[in-house]
Amino acid sequence: MNKVFNVGLVGCGHISETYFRAQEYFNNIKIIKCADLNIEAADNCAKEYGIESVSLDNIFKDKDIEIILNLTIPKAHFEVSEKALNSGKHSYSEKPLCINFDDGKKLLELAKKNNLYLGSAPDTVLGAGIQKSKELIESGLIGKINLGNAIFAYPGVQSYHPSPEPWFAEKEGGPVIDMGPYYITALVTLLGPVKSVISRSKKVFTEREIGIGPRKGNKFKVECDTTYVSTLEFHDNSFIQMTLSFDVKDHKRNHIELYGDKGSIIVTDPNMFGGSVFTCLELGGKWTEHETHNLELGKINIKSQSSRANESPTNANYRGAGLSEMAYSIENNSEHMCNGEISLHVLDIIQSIMRSAKSKKTEVLSTKCKIPSRFTQEKIKKILK
Ligand SMILES: NC(=O)c1ccc[n+]([C@@H]2O[C@H](COP(=O)([O-])OP(=O)(O)OC[C@H]3O[C@@H](n4cnc5c(N)ncnc54)[C@H](O)[C@@H]3O)[C@@H](O)[C@H]2O)c1
Repeated sequence: MNKVFNVGLVGCGHISETYFRAQEYFNNIKIIKCADLNIEAADNCAKEYGIESVSLDNIFKDKDIEIILNLTIPKAHFEVSEKALNSGKHSYSEKPLCINFDDGKKLLELAKKNNLYLGSAPDTVLGAGIQKSKELIESGLIGKINLGNAIFAYPGVQSYHPSPEPWFAEKEGGPVIDMGPYYITALVTLLGPVKSVISRSKKVFTEREIGIGPRKGNKFKVECDTTYVSTLEFHDNSFIQMTLSFDVKDHKRNHIELYGDKGSIIVTDPNMFGGSVFTCLELGGKWTEHETHNLELGKINIKSQSSRANESPTNANYRGAGLSEMAYSIENNSEHMCNGEISLHVLDIIQSIMRSAKSKKTEVLSTKCKIPSRFTQEKIKKILK
């Protein structure tokens, strides 16, 4: 029996429902209290899930809480994680680690100094889809990967989010901060750390219109670039072309394709946990499907459409796996998989891409990270109920 860690939730917004659901799957986490800047949001959340709502001050002082789960908006991640670590609590936050590389470094140093764990989403890389891709790549089936393509492109959140402005704000806005963590963390998990990046960016629309809610029809200014086309050079010498965009109506490309010297692989959606991986070993040859829906963290667990949590009934969504794996690692005094070193490297890549787009020069990364070994079915079962 694993020790069950008491978790204090800060940030009771859209994604919190997914983390409450995680308690149904994982055997070592229990959200006992919640807090939010918006007291009404915290109270509603507490009522819905039968827990206690406390003030922001008190959640950090609470002696019963061992881990702070930080589900606030990206620009508040640093402040909340820093408070958690300064209060002697482990910290696990939603992606990205924070929006500023120097702040991310501070968090890592603080966690080390206080002997605490610092974890960060995305934990989708622990899912059966990315882990099956990793297994196939490591088996040597497609040989050494040299090239690849990754794309996330859609029209943006303004049609379905009542307050879309933060996605288009100067500092914390844009597709690299928002969706980059999923794609970059998946690529780093499969290929290792990145050496350098070069990037171009543009803003296609200077204004956007809110499509839903009380301010429907209102226009607002787009303050950041909304498309980035980047080339990532990895330490293993592979080059990956990555497009991240809020300016595309629709497309039919695969999320991630990697090309090895013996074959090609189509990797699953890095924003979700399941899906099929496909491999092909010759020109015009058959694409072999490698299903994951019978595997742990690959089984479809979503029954209804939810724009709140970006879910549909074809998805496997086990967000919270990274938090549970971190709790297991704390108990067993081992390194956790969604750790601060990886998320700081991902943040370094995010910021380097954005800097390169401005400078039009190659940006060399200042960090590296170790890549955890595979999250095998045997390991996963240890944290499942
Ligand atoms: N919604 C999704 O589909 C989704 C999916 C994956 C990841 N995420 C990530 O989860 C995080 C939260 O997203 P969301 O969609 O739930 O946002 P949200 O805006 O719905 O909720 C965020 C909550 O945090 C609170 N908050 C803001 N600053 C705070 C502070 N300093 N202290 C305490 N509370 C504060 C807000 O009042 C709000 O209730 C983001 O990092 C996002 O990138 C969201």
